[in-house]
Amino acid sequence: MSHATSLEFHLQPGGGLQGRLRVPGDKSISHRAIMLGALAEGSTQISGFLEGEDSLATLKAFRQMGVDIQGPQQGRVRIQGLGMNGLCSPDAPLDLGNSGTSMRLLSGLLAGQGFEVTLVGDDSLSKRPMQRVTEPLALMGAEINSTPKGTAPLVIRPVDGLRGLDYALPMASAQVKSCLLLAGLYADGETCVTEPVPTRDHTERMLRSFGYEVRQAGRRVCLSGGGRLKACAIDVPADISSAAFFLVGASIAPGSDLILEHVGVNPTRDGVINILRLMGADIELLNPRDVGGEPVADLRVRSAPLKGIRIPENQVPLAIDEFPALFIAAACAEGETLLTGAEELRVKESDRIQVMADGLQTLGIEAQPTVDGMRIRGGQLGAGRIQSQGDHRIAMAFALAALRASGEIQIADCANVNTSFPGFVGLAAGVGLNIAEV
Ligand code: S3P
Repeated sequence: MSHATSLEFHLQPGGGLQGRLRVPGDKSISHRAIMLGALAEGSTQISGFLEGEDSLATLKAFRQMGVDIQGPQQGRVRIQGLGMNGLCSPDAPLDLGNSGTSMRLLSGLLAGQGFEVTLVGDDSLSKRPMQRVTEPLALMGAEINSTPKGTAPLVIRPVDGLRGLDYALPMASAQVKSCLLLAGLYADGETCVTEPVPTRDHTERMLRSFGYEVRQAGRRVCLSGGGRLKACAIDVPADISSAAFFLVGASIAPGSDLILEHVGVNPTRDGVINILRLMGADIELLNPRDVGGEPVADLRVRSAPLKGIRIPENQVPLAIDEFPALFIAAACAEGETLLTGAEELRVKESDRIQVMADGLQTLGIEAQPTVDGMRIRGGQLGAGRIQSQGDHRIAMAFALAALRASGEIQIADCANVNTSFPGFVGLAAGVGLNIAEV
């Protein structure tokens, strides 16, 4: 996957956000729908699939392993599942681009297959820690080679069988939890994962939708290997992580009144709503409903004066991808906001603590990075040129910051916005952001 790094966003200051929009489909759910659909018996229909580079990398990987996948066409995908043991050896390494979710979940899913496979990624993904999955998978009997630094490429070799594992996760990570549960489908006996704090539970919910028994007791989740998945229909809600930029934008821009349609509001993902409300945001959940085992609602957000807060640590895993947006909210709030317990932000698509602190300082905001978080004093955002370091969420967060800036904001290296939010510029401009792609 090649990325043009020259794409820039240029934003004129001011304005407000008005109207309605539906942001693209949930990235986490889109990945999982392809993976489970490929292993199921029968034909799985997906609607609302995210046609972003990350989930398309997962889709392409399964095509390379022999799965017949039609689409995506306007979010519709049809997968002819091959059953638990139907995947074929790919004739080349699987290129997962920028996508940590693809690499970590696939390493578990592929550890118990009867063929060798190599997983590669772009520069950013090739720097991200993979021991967090290779170490517990080795305890299950998997054979996976990484670089001496524990990074990709990962070479996964076939083994005689995997053993079930009872594992306490050392960090809050839905990717590691999901990786081990997917490996557990192929293991002898029971695989159990205990989390330090709850993280997104889409894998557990979707396994149940595909007819697989998953047992949950508090923070411990277990399944037994050797079962089967039955094809089903999956309606992917809009991604709350993409909606987050607009929740923040409409909150900080005076006169805003915006409705975000069909957003996934799974309680393991709704930290951004809880944190913004603690800061004083005006967010209403309209028409809450259940869509295929996932809670969904329309979100109405109106501008409101925000105040700085100490962010409760129990909200951190529930908002882990939303901190670039939340830091912008903090920069526009009155007083100080303090984030702690978020060291995982340093190993995302970029070091999100450092890169956000640098960008906020460029705009004249007092932002002090700490080992595991940040201290931000709200103030007047200035003008300037931001280095997004190729991180999609950093680019989008600073784009919305322009609503409260005093001058033009230029953002470099924005091509990766397409990994999670294709069509961002058009949708954002349609509700009032003064944005141009250069
Ligand atoms: C994801 C889990 C989170 C999140 C990522 C998607 C998933 O990663 O940041 O964007 O789909 O399971 P971690 O497991 O590293 O926290």
